[in-house]
Amino acid sequence: MISLKKINKYYQQGDGRVHILHDISFDVNEGEFVGIMGQSGSGKSTLINIIGFLDREYEGTYSFKGDDVSYLNNKRFTSLRNQNVGFVFQNFKLIQNLTVAENVALPLMYAGVKKKEIDQRVSQVLERVGLGGYEKYLPLRLSGGQQQRVSIARAIIGKPTFLIADEPTGALDSHTSAEIMALFKQLNKENKTTIIIVTHDPKVGQQVDRLLTILDGKLISDTGVA
Ligand SMILES: Nc1ncnc2c1ncn2[C@@H]1O[C@H](COP(=O)(O)OP(=O)(O)OP(=O)(O)O)[C@@H](O)[C@H]1O
Ligand SMILES: [Mg+2]
Repeated sequence: MISLKKINKYYQQGDGRVHILHDISFDVNEGEFVGIMGQSGSGKSTLINIIGFLDREYEGTYSFKGDDVSYLNNKRFTSLRNQNVGFVFQNFKLIQNLTVAENVALPLMYAGVKKKEIDQRVSQVLERVGLGGYEKYLPLRLSGGQQQRVSIARAIIGKPTFLIADEPTGALDSHTSAEIMALFKQLNKENKTTIIIVTHDPKVGQQVDRLLTILDGKLISDTGVA
């Protein structure tokens, strides 16, 4: 489904440019649960910004479901992202003055889905992440783990083709982190959601089915995890 061939990424710095990603090639198939590990600054976020169709300034080829995405105009590129990717971040990125239900509903509001269907799907997806009945709460009244569940609900409500999670447990204690990983595992096994998760945490890295390791912008290993 996702196929990267010799991806190179440079950032402009002063007069020169810094080489951030070096010849990264790998595929991700539908239904996989993939982890990406590597030191701070190794290029993990840079890489997933490309995979998640947030960044198209790179060299090399990214084919998605067989099509080279570089041929899309900006409008099509944006809709490719909106229709296929759900994002989960370390700091949840919830809107504090909207309720849980309103936060989760956002992607469907943007997509123009009717209110009645939105309400139904919001309740379903909140049940799915273990937050049934929390519709009217404001995010600040929830624990970190609950807020991350809300952001996962928001990421999956549009039925994306794949999920990208950048350090989703980075702001959580180890117990809560294990609960969130269990939820990702469940979504992967039961809903067959394709998940790509970036982490520093070796414990998180042990939970995935396949682990990619990045060092200084190079892919140095790609292994199954027992
Ligand atoms: N917009 C940018 N402009 C210039 N350099 C950047 C930019 N974004 C990132 N970099 C540089 O690219 C390198 C890789 O950064 P990236 O954020 O991808 O690392 P990371 O592996 O996600 O790190 P962390 O674990 O700390 O999140 C770093 O050296 C960083 O300073
Ligand atoms: Mg990062």
